[in-house]
Amino acid sequence: MEGFLMRGGERLKGSLRVGAAKNAVLPILAASILADSPSTLVGCPRIADVESMRSILQTLGCESRWEPDGLVVSGGLSSGEMPEKLSKRVRSSIFLLGPILARLRHATVVYPGGCEIGLRPIDLHLSGLKRMGVEISETGGVLRCDGSRMHAADVHLDYPSVGATENVIMAAALTKGVTTVTNAAREPEIEDLQAYINAMGGHVQGAGSPTVTIEGTRELHGAVYAPMPDRIAAGTYLCAAAITGGEITLDHVQPRHLTAVLQKLREMGCEIEEGENVLSLKAPRRLQAFDTLQTQPHPGFPTDMQSPMMALAAVARGSSVIVENVFENRFALAADLNRMGARIRVAGRAALIEGVESLHGVSCQARDLRGGAALVLTGLCAKEETLITGVELIDRGYERMETELTRLGAQIRRISVTE
Ligand code: EPZ
Repeated sequence: MEGFLMRGGERLKGSLRVGAAKNAVLPILAASILADSPSTLVGCPRIADVESMRSILQTLGCESRWEPDGLVVSGGLSSGEMPEKLSKRVRSSIFLLGPILARLRHATVVYPGGCEIGLRPIDLHLSGLKRMGVEISETGGVLRCDGSRMHAADVHLDYPSVGATENVIMAAALTKGVTTVTNAAREPEIEDLQAYINAMGGHVQGAGSPTVTIEGTRELHGAVYAPMPDRIAAGTYLCAAAITGGEITLDHVQPRHLTAVLQKLREMGCEIEEGENVLSLKAPRRLQAFDTLQTQPHPGFPTDMQSPMMALAAVARGSSVIVENVFENRFALAADLNRMGARIRVAGRAALIEGVESLHGVSCQARDLRGGAALVLTGLCAKEETLITGVELIDRGYERMETELTRLGAQIRRISVTE
Protein backbone atom coordinates (compact mmCIF):
# COMPACT_ATOMS: atom_id res chain seq x y z
CA MET A 1 0.00 0.00 0.00
CA GLU A 2 1.27 3.52 -0.67
CA GLY A 3 0.78 6.73 1.29
CA PHE A 4 1.32 10.46 1.14
CA LEU A 5 3.46 11.92 3.92
CA MET A 6 2.70 15.64 4.26
CA ARG A 7 3.55 18.66 6.34
CA GLY A 8 1.16 21.61 6.08
CA GLY A 9 1.72 25.35 6.29
CA GLU A 10 2.92 26.32 2.81
CA ARG A 11 0.84 28.78 0.78
CA LEU A 12 0.59 27.18 -2.66
CA LYS A 13 1.62 29.35 -5.58
CA GLY A 14 2.10 28.66 -9.26
CA SER A 15 0.40 27.35 -12.37
CA LEU A 16 -0.83 23.95 -13.49
CA ARG A 17 -2.10 22.43 -16.72
CA VAL A 18 -5.27 20.40 -16.12
CA GLY A 19 -5.35 16.92 -17.67
CA ALA A 20 -8.19 15.30 -19.63
CA ALA A 21 -11.31 14.35 -17.69
CA LYS A 22 -11.56 10.86 -16.16
CA ASN A 23 -15.37 10.99 -16.41
CA ALA A 24 -15.21 11.88 -20.10
CA VAL A 25 -12.46 9.41 -21.03
CA LEU A 26 -14.10 6.36 -19.43
CA PRO A 27 -17.36 6.50 -21.48
CA ILE A 28 -15.33 7.54 -24.56
CA LEU A 29 -13.15 4.44 -24.13
CA ALA A 30 -16.35 2.38 -24.00
CA ALA A 31 -17.64 4.13 -27.14
CA SER A 32 -14.39 3.38 -29.01
CA ILE A 33 -15.58 -0.21 -29.59
CA LEU A 34 -18.48 1.13 -31.66
CA ALA A 35 -15.95 1.41 -34.50
CA ASP A 36 -13.77 -1.30 -36.05
CA SER A 37 -10.94 1.15 -36.74
CA PRO A 38 -8.58 2.77 -34.23
CA SER A 39 -9.14 5.95 -32.25
CA THR A 40 -6.54 8.17 -30.60
CA LEU A 41 -7.52 9.85 -27.32
CA VAL A 42 -5.18 12.84 -27.27
CA GLY A 43 -3.91 13.76 -23.79
CA CYS A 44 -5.60 10.74 -22.18
CA PRO A 45 -4.73 10.80 -18.45
CA ARG A 46 -2.50 8.00 -17.13
CA ILE A 47 -4.76 7.20 -14.17
CA ALA A 48 -5.68 3.86 -12.61
CA ASP A 49 -9.28 3.86 -13.87
CA VAL A 50 -8.03 4.20 -17.46
CA GLU A 51 -5.67 1.26 -16.95
CA SER A 52 -8.52 -0.82 -15.51
CA MET A 53 -10.75 0.05 -18.45
CA ARG A 54 -7.93 -0.91 -20.85
CA SER A 55 -7.76 -4.35 -19.21
CA ILE A 56 -11.48 -4.89 -19.69
CA LEU A 57 -11.33 -3.72 -23.32
CA GLN A 58 -8.47 -6.13 -23.92
CA THR A 59 -10.51 -9.10 -22.68
CA LEU A 60 -13.21 -8.02 -25.18
CA GLY A 61 -10.69 -8.00 -28.02
CA CYS A 62 -9.98 -4.27 -28.13
CA GLU A 63 -6.25 -3.60 -27.75
CA SER A 64 -4.76 -0.25 -26.74
CA ARG A 65 -1.30 1.25 -26.36
CA TRP A 66 0.21 4.49 -25.08
CA GLU A 67 1.74 6.82 -27.65
CA PRO A 68 3.50 10.14 -26.93
CA ASP A 69 0.34 12.18 -27.63
CA GLY A 70 -2.16 9.89 -25.93
CA LEU A 71 -3.82 6.48 -25.97
CA VAL A 72 -4.48 4.59 -29.20
CA VAL A 73 -7.36 2.11 -28.98
CA SER A 74 -7.87 -0.46 -31.74
CA GLY A 75 -11.68 -0.33 -31.73
CA GLY A 76 -13.73 -3.40 -32.53
CA LEU A 77 -14.46 -6.31 -30.21
CA SER A 78 -14.58 -10.06 -30.47
CA SER A 79 -16.55 -10.95 -27.36
CA GLY A 80 -19.57 -9.61 -25.52
CA GLU A 81 -18.75 -11.48 -22.32
CA MET A 82 -17.56 -9.05 -19.66
CA PRO A 83 -15.01 -10.58 -17.24
CA GLU A 84 -16.62 -10.93 -13.78
CA LYS A 85 -13.65 -9.99 -11.59
CA LEU A 86 -12.73 -6.91 -13.61
CA SER A 87 -16.36 -5.76 -13.95
CA LYS A 88 -16.76 -5.75 -10.19
CA ARG A 89 -13.49 -3.90 -9.68
CA VAL A 90 -14.25 -1.23 -12.25
CA ARG A 91 -17.73 0.22 -11.92
CA SER A 92 -17.45 2.09 -15.19
CA SER A 93 -17.40 -1.29 -16.97
CA ILE A 94 -21.20 -0.89 -17.02
CA PHE A 95 -20.65 1.77 -19.71
CA LEU A 96 -19.66 -1.06 -22.04
CA LEU A 97 -23.13 -2.61 -22.00
CA GLY A 98 -24.58 -0.12 -24.49
CA PRO A 99 -21.76 -0.30 -27.05
CA ILE A 100 -21.48 -4.10 -26.86
CA LEU A 101 -25.22 -4.41 -27.55
CA ALA A 102 -24.93 -1.86 -30.35
CA ARG A 103 -22.21 -3.96 -32.03
CA LEU A 104 -23.03 -7.58 -31.20
CA ARG A 105 -26.70 -7.40 -30.22
CA HIS A 106 -25.96 -9.59 -27.17
CA ALA A 107 -23.99 -9.05 -23.96
CA THR A 108 -23.25 -10.73 -20.66
CA VAL A 109 -22.31 -8.48 -17.76
CA VAL A 110 -22.25 -8.79 -14.00
CA TYR A 111 -23.82 -6.32 -11.61
CA PRO A 112 -20.94 -3.88 -10.94
CA GLY A 113 -21.94 -3.70 -7.27
CA GLY A 114 -21.86 -0.78 -4.91
CA CYS A 115 -18.91 1.19 -3.66
CA GLU A 116 -17.97 3.42 -0.73
CA ILE A 117 -20.32 6.25 -1.71
CA GLY A 118 -23.48 4.27 -2.33
CA LEU A 119 -25.28 1.24 -3.73
CA ARG A 120 -24.79 2.50 -7.28
CA PRO A 121 -27.83 0.70 -8.77
CA ILE A 122 -28.12 0.34 -12.56
CA ASP A 123 -31.93 0.12 -12.86
CA LEU A 124 -32.06 3.27 -15.02
CA HIS A 125 -29.45 1.81 -17.40
CA LEU A 126 -31.46 -1.41 -17.73
CA SER A 127 -34.88 0.24 -18.05
CA GLY A 128 -33.53 2.51 -20.80
CA LEU A 129 -32.15 -0.44 -22.75
CA LYS A 130 -35.39 -2.42 -22.22
CA ARG A 131 -37.31 0.54 -23.77
CA MET A 132 -35.10 -0.12 -26.81
CA GLY A 133 -36.25 -3.72 -26.93
CA VAL A 134 -33.31 -5.35 -25.16
CA GLU A 135 -34.41 -8.48 -23.23
CA ILE A 136 -32.49 -8.86 -19.97
CA SER A 137 -32.47 -11.90 -17.69
CA GLU A 138 -30.56 -12.02 -14.41
CA THR A 139 -29.30 -15.09 -12.58
CA GLY A 140 -26.90 -14.83 -9.66
CA GLY A 141 -25.85 -11.30 -10.42
CA VAL A 142 -25.10 -12.13 -14.07
CA LEU A 143 -27.13 -10.16 -16.64
CA ARG A 144 -27.73 -11.82 -20.01
CA CYS A 145 -28.85 -9.23 -22.54
CA ASP A 146 -30.48 -10.12 -25.87
CA GLY A 147 -30.54 -7.17 -28.24
CA SER A 148 -31.52 -9.11 -31.36
CA ARG A 149 -34.78 -7.12 -31.55
CA MET A 150 -33.31 -3.77 -30.47
CA HIS A 151 -34.98 -0.69 -31.99
CA ALA A 152 -34.95 3.09 -31.70
CA ALA A 153 -37.22 4.35 -28.93
CA ASP A 154 -38.23 7.34 -26.82
CA VAL A 155 -36.43 6.75 -23.52
CA HIS A 156 -37.42 8.79 -20.48
CA LEU A 157 -35.07 8.59 -17.49
CA ASP A 158 -36.78 8.81 -14.08
CA TYR A 159 -33.61 10.52 -12.85
CA PRO A 160 -30.95 12.30 -14.98
CA SER A 161 -28.36 9.56 -14.46
CA VAL A 162 -25.01 10.31 -16.16
CA GLY A 163 -24.16 6.67 -16.82
CA ALA A 164 -27.64 5.68 -17.96
CA THR A 165 -27.73 8.64 -20.38
CA GLU A 166 -24.35 7.62 -21.79
CA ASN A 167 -25.27 3.94 -22.09
CA VAL A 168 -28.47 4.67 -24.05
CA ILE A 169 -26.64 7.13 -26.34
CA MET A 170 -24.02 4.49 -27.16
CA ALA A 171 -26.61 1.72 -27.65
CA ALA A 172 -28.61 3.97 -30.00
CA ALA A 173 -25.60 5.12 -32.04
CA LEU A 174 -25.71 1.96 -34.21
CA THR A 175 -29.45 1.25 -33.91
CA LYS A 176 -31.51 2.19 -36.99
CA GLY A 177 -33.90 5.11 -36.47
CA VAL A 178 -34.06 8.08 -34.08
CA THR A 179 -33.82 7.46 -30.34
CA THR A 180 -34.57 10.30 -27.92
CA VAL A 181 -33.51 10.48 -24.30
CA THR A 182 -35.63 12.84 -22.19
CA ASN A 183 -34.71 13.94 -18.68
CA ALA A 184 -31.15 13.21 -19.82
CA ALA A 185 -28.19 14.13 -17.63
CA ARG A 186 -26.68 17.47 -18.73
CA GLU A 187 -23.08 17.00 -17.52
CA PRO A 188 -20.34 18.38 -19.82
CA GLU A 189 -18.91 14.84 -20.09
CA ILE A 190 -22.02 13.90 -22.07
CA GLU A 191 -21.39 16.75 -24.51
CA ASP A 192 -17.88 15.31 -24.89
CA LEU A 193 -19.23 11.81 -25.61
CA GLN A 194 -21.57 13.34 -28.21
CA ALA A 195 -18.66 15.17 -29.86
CA TYR A 196 -16.57 11.99 -29.97
CA ILE A 197 -19.36 9.85 -31.46
CA ASN A 198 -20.07 12.57 -34.05
CA ALA A 199 -16.33 12.64 -34.89
CA MET A 200 -16.74 8.89 -35.54
CA GLY A 201 -19.48 9.69 -38.08
CA GLY A 202 -22.41 9.47 -35.67
CA HIS A 203 -25.44 11.79 -35.42
CA VAL A 204 -26.01 12.77 -31.79
CA GLN A 205 -27.59 16.11 -30.86
CA GLY A 206 -28.74 17.90 -27.75
CA ALA A 207 -26.16 16.71 -25.21
CA GLY A 208 -25.94 19.27 -22.42
CA SER A 209 -29.70 19.78 -22.59
CA PRO A 210 -32.40 17.55 -21.05
CA THR A 211 -33.26 16.03 -24.46
CA VAL A 212 -30.71 14.13 -26.54
CA THR A 213 -31.52 12.66 -29.97
CA ILE A 214 -29.46 9.94 -31.61
CA GLU A 215 -29.93 8.94 -35.24
CA GLY A 216 -28.44 5.45 -35.55
CA THR A 217 -25.94 4.84 -38.38
CA ARG A 218 -24.89 1.59 -40.03
CA GLU A 219 -21.30 1.89 -38.90
CA LEU A 220 -18.85 4.25 -37.23
CA HIS A 221 -15.11 4.79 -37.78
CA GLY A 222 -12.34 5.58 -35.31
CA ALA A 223 -11.41 9.22 -34.65
CA VAL A 224 -8.59 11.32 -33.23
CA TYR A 225 -10.18 13.12 -30.29
CA ALA A 226 -8.98 15.31 -27.41
CA PRO A 227 -11.32 14.75 -24.43
CA MET A 228 -12.35 17.77 -22.36
CA PRO A 229 -10.31 18.98 -19.38
CA ASP A 230 -11.12 17.47 -16.00
CA ARG A 231 -13.40 19.95 -14.23
CA ILE A 232 -13.21 18.02 -10.94
CA ALA A 233 -9.42 17.84 -10.93
CA ALA A 234 -9.40 21.57 -11.77
CA GLY A 235 -11.79 22.28 -8.89
CA THR A 236 -9.67 20.17 -6.54
CA TYR A 237 -6.49 22.15 -7.32
CA LEU A 238 -8.38 25.45 -6.94
CA CYS A 239 -9.36 24.19 -3.48
CA ALA A 240 -5.72 23.31 -2.73
CA ALA A 241 -4.73 26.94 -3.32
CA ALA A 242 -7.82 28.19 -1.47
CA ILE A 243 -7.24 26.15 1.71
CA THR A 244 -3.61 27.35 1.95
CA GLY A 245 -4.33 31.06 1.36
CA GLY A 246 -2.37 30.76 -1.86
CA GLU A 247 -2.84 31.60 -5.52
CA ILE A 248 -2.97 29.43 -8.61
CA THR A 249 -3.43 29.71 -12.36
CA LEU A 250 -4.92 26.76 -14.25
CA ASP A 251 -4.71 26.40 -18.00
CA HIS A 252 -6.47 23.90 -20.28
CA VAL A 253 -9.64 24.38 -18.23
CA GLN A 254 -13.18 25.42 -19.22
CA PRO A 255 -14.50 27.91 -16.63
CA ARG A 256 -18.09 27.37 -17.84
CA HIS A 257 -17.82 23.77 -16.54
CA LEU A 258 -17.18 25.07 -13.01
CA THR A 259 -19.74 27.87 -12.61
CA ALA A 260 -21.31 26.44 -9.42
CA VAL A 261 -17.90 25.73 -7.85
CA LEU A 262 -16.49 29.18 -8.69
CA GLN A 263 -19.55 30.82 -7.15
CA LYS A 264 -18.97 28.98 -3.84
CA LEU A 265 -15.25 29.78 -3.82
CA ARG A 266 -16.07 33.48 -4.39
CA GLU A 267 -18.57 33.27 -1.52
CA MET A 268 -15.63 32.06 0.61
CA GLY A 269 -13.62 35.17 -0.27
CA CYS A 270 -11.52 33.96 -3.20
CA GLU A 271 -10.79 36.36 -6.07
CA ILE A 272 -11.25 34.45 -9.32
CA GLU A 273 -10.54 35.56 -12.88
CA GLU A 274 -11.90 33.60 -15.82
CA GLY A 275 -10.30 33.52 -19.26
CA GLU A 276 -10.85 31.55 -22.51
CA ASN A 277 -9.20 28.34 -21.29
CA VAL A 278 -7.68 29.64 -18.09
CA LEU A 279 -8.69 30.30 -14.50
CA SER A 280 -6.81 32.09 -11.73
CA LEU A 281 -7.64 32.15 -8.05
CA LYS A 282 -6.24 34.26 -5.21
CA ALA A 283 -7.31 33.14 -1.77
CA PRO A 284 -7.76 35.26 1.38
CA ARG A 285 -5.59 34.52 4.40
CA ARG A 286 -8.55 32.66 5.89
CA LEU A 287 -11.66 31.51 4.02
CA GLN A 288 -15.14 32.70 4.94
CA ALA A 289 -17.75 29.95 5.46
CA PHE A 290 -20.31 29.56 2.66
CA ASP A 291 -23.92 29.51 3.86
CA THR A 292 -25.32 26.36 2.26
CA LEU A 293 -24.07 24.02 -0.46
CA GLN A 294 -26.50 21.58 -2.12
CA THR A 295 -25.17 18.99 -4.59
CA GLN A 296 -27.37 18.56 -7.66
CA PRO A 297 -27.14 17.11 -11.18
CA HIS A 298 -25.40 19.52 -13.60
CA PRO A 299 -25.58 22.52 -13.81
CA GLY A 300 -26.06 22.32 -10.03
CA PHE A 301 -23.12 21.93 -7.67
CA PRO A 302 -21.22 18.73 -8.61
CA THR A 303 -21.28 15.96 -6.00
CA ASP A 304 -17.66 15.09 -6.83
CA MET A 305 -16.60 18.47 -5.41
CA GLN A 306 -18.54 18.02 -2.17
CA SER A 307 -15.73 16.41 -0.16
CA PRO A 308 -13.11 19.03 -1.18
CA MET A 309 -15.54 21.78 -0.18
CA MET A 310 -16.14 20.09 3.20
CA ALA A 311 -12.39 20.29 3.82
CA LEU A 312 -12.43 24.03 3.05
CA ALA A 313 -15.47 24.63 5.26
CA ALA A 314 -13.75 22.79 8.12
CA VAL A 315 -11.17 25.59 8.50
CA ALA A 316 -13.28 28.55 7.32
CA ARG A 317 -14.50 31.41 9.53
CA GLY A 318 -18.13 30.62 10.48
CA SER A 319 -20.53 27.70 9.94
CA SER A 320 -21.53 26.02 6.69
CA VAL A 321 -24.20 23.49 5.74
CA ILE A 322 -23.71 20.86 3.05
CA VAL A 323 -26.62 18.82 1.66
CA GLU A 324 -25.61 15.78 -0.44
CA ASN A 325 -28.58 15.10 -2.72
CA VAL A 326 -26.93 12.80 -5.27
CA PHE A 327 -25.29 9.89 -3.40
CA GLU A 328 -26.59 8.35 -0.19
CA ASN A 329 -23.29 7.83 1.59
CA ARG A 330 -20.82 10.55 0.73
CA PHE A 331 -20.02 12.04 4.16
CA ALA A 332 -17.47 9.43 5.29
CA LEU A 333 -14.81 12.14 5.22
CA ALA A 334 -16.41 13.91 8.21
CA ALA A 335 -15.18 11.29 10.69
CA ASP A 336 -11.57 11.73 9.61
CA LEU A 337 -11.82 15.53 9.64
CA ASN A 338 -13.25 15.40 13.17
CA ARG A 339 -10.24 13.33 14.24
CA MET A 340 -8.13 16.23 12.92
CA GLY A 341 -10.01 18.68 15.14
CA ALA A 342 -12.84 19.68 12.83
CA ARG A 343 -16.32 20.21 14.19
CA ILE A 344 -18.73 18.47 11.79
CA ARG A 345 -22.10 16.98 12.59
CA VAL A 346 -23.90 14.76 10.08
CA ALA A 347 -27.66 14.15 10.05
CA GLY A 348 -28.85 12.13 7.06
CA ARG A 349 -28.14 14.05 3.87
CA ALA A 350 -27.04 17.20 5.74
CA ALA A 351 -23.74 18.07 7.40
CA LEU A 352 -23.19 21.10 9.66
CA ILE A 353 -19.59 22.28 9.64
CA GLU A 354 -18.42 24.80 12.27
CA GLY A 355 -15.12 26.16 10.99
CA VAL A 356 -12.07 25.94 13.29
CA GLU A 357 -8.82 27.91 13.21
CA SER A 358 -6.66 24.93 12.30
CA LEU A 359 -6.56 21.16 12.03
CA HIS A 360 -3.85 18.89 13.38
CA GLY A 361 -2.21 16.20 11.26
CA VAL A 362 -3.14 12.55 11.89
CA SER A 363 -2.67 9.19 10.21
CA CYS A 364 -5.73 8.43 8.14
CA GLN A 365 -6.80 6.28 5.19
CA ALA A 366 -8.50 7.37 1.99
CA ARG A 367 -11.96 5.75 1.87
CA ASP A 368 -13.00 6.88 -1.60
CA LEU A 369 -11.52 8.86 -4.48
CA ARG A 370 -12.80 12.37 -3.72
CA GLY A 371 -12.70 11.91 0.06
CA GLY A 372 -9.05 10.91 -0.30
CA ALA A 373 -8.36 14.06 -2.33
CA ALA A 374 -10.05 16.10 0.41
CA LEU A 375 -7.76 14.51 3.03
CA VAL A 376 -4.80 15.76 0.99
CA LEU A 377 -6.29 19.26 1.09
CA THR A 378 -6.43 19.14 4.89
CA GLY A 379 -2.88 17.78 4.96
CA LEU A 380 -1.80 20.95 3.12
CA CYS A 381 -2.95 23.15 6.01
CA ALA A 382 -2.70 20.88 9.09
CA LYS A 383 -0.06 22.02 11.54
CA GLU A 384 1.85 18.79 12.07
CA GLU A 385 2.64 15.87 9.81
CA THR A 386 -0.20 14.02 8.09
CA LEU A 387 0.04 10.48 6.75
CA ILE A 388 -2.65 9.45 4.26
CA THR A 389 -2.66 5.76 3.29
CA GLY A 390 -4.67 4.07 0.54
CA VAL A 391 -3.59 6.63 -2.05
CA GLU A 392 -4.26 4.02 -4.75
CA LEU A 393 -7.83 5.34 -4.47
CA ILE A 394 -6.62 8.87 -5.22
CA ASP A 395 -4.56 7.57 -8.18
CA ARG A 396 -7.84 6.36 -9.72
CA GLY A 397 -8.74 9.94 -10.65
CA TYR A 398 -5.69 12.19 -10.23
CA GLU A 399 -2.47 11.81 -12.21
CA ARG A 400 0.53 12.01 -9.79
CA MET A 401 -1.23 14.44 -7.45
CA GLU A 402 1.84 14.69 -5.22
CA THR A 403 4.01 15.82 -8.15
CA GLU A 404 1.59 18.61 -9.07
CA LEU A 405 1.28 19.79 -5.47
CA THR A 406 5.05 19.70 -4.92
CA ARG A 407 5.46 21.95 -7.95
CA LEU A 408 3.08 24.40 -6.25
CA GLY A 409 5.22 24.42 -3.10
CA ALA A 410 3.55 21.75 -0.97
CA GLN A 411 5.53 19.44 1.30
CA ILE A 412 4.22 16.04 0.20
CA ARG A 413 5.89 12.82 -0.84
CA ARG A 414 4.74 9.35 -1.80
CA ILE A 415 5.99 6.58 0.50
CA SER A 416 5.35 2.86 0.63
CA VAL A 417 3.41 1.80 3.74
CA THR A 418 3.53 -1.79 4.97
CA GLU A 419 0.01 -3.25 5.15
C1 EPZ B 1 -20.97 9.50 -12.77
O1 EPZ B 1 -21.35 8.35 -12.03
C2 EPZ B 1 -19.53 9.79 -12.38
N1 EPZ B 1 -18.68 8.66 -12.76
C3 EPZ B 1 -19.45 10.03 -10.87
O2 EPZ B 1 -18.10 10.37 -10.56
C4 EPZ B 1 -20.35 11.22 -10.53
O3 EPZ B 1 -20.33 11.43 -9.13
C5 EPZ B 1 -21.78 10.94 -10.99
O4 EPZ B 1 -21.77 10.63 -12.42
C6 EPZ B 1 -22.70 12.12 -10.76
O5 EPZ B 1 -22.21 13.24 -11.43
C7 EPZ B 1 -18.29 8.52 -14.04
O6 EPZ B 1 -18.68 9.28 -14.90
C8 EPZ B 1 -17.36 7.37 -14.35
P1 EPZ B 1 -25.34 8.71 -11.84
P2 EPZ B 1 -22.76 7.61 -12.35
O7 EPZ B 1 -25.82 7.55 -12.62
O8 EPZ B 1 -23.01 7.61 -13.81
C9 EPZ B 1 -28.55 6.92 -8.88
C10 EPZ B 1 -16.07 10.28 -9.36
O9 EPZ B 1 -15.74 10.52 -8.18
N2 EPZ B 1 -28.78 5.92 -9.94
O10 EPZ B 1 -25.64 10.09 -12.33
O11 EPZ B 1 -22.78 6.32 -11.63
C11 EPZ B 1 -27.21 6.68 -8.18
O12 EPZ B 1 -27.35 5.72 -7.17
C12 EPZ B 1 -17.36 9.53 -9.64
O13 EPZ B 1 -15.41 10.62 -10.38
C13 EPZ B 1 -29.87 5.06 -9.84
O14 EPZ B 1 -30.63 5.13 -8.88
O15 EPZ B 1 -23.77 8.62 -11.63
C14 EPZ B 1 -26.89 8.05 -7.64
O16 EPZ B 1 -27.57 8.21 -6.40
C15 EPZ B 1 -18.13 9.19 -8.37
N3 EPZ B 1 -30.06 4.13 -10.81
C16 EPZ B 1 -27.49 9.00 -8.68
O17 EPZ B 1 -28.42 8.22 -9.44
C17 EPZ B 1 -29.22 4.04 -11.90
O18 EPZ B 1 -29.47 3.19 -12.78
C18 EPZ B 1 -26.45 9.60 -9.63
O19 EPZ B 1 -25.84 8.53 -10.32
C19 EPZ B 1 -28.12 4.93 -11.98
C20 EPZ B 1 -27.92 5.86 -10.99
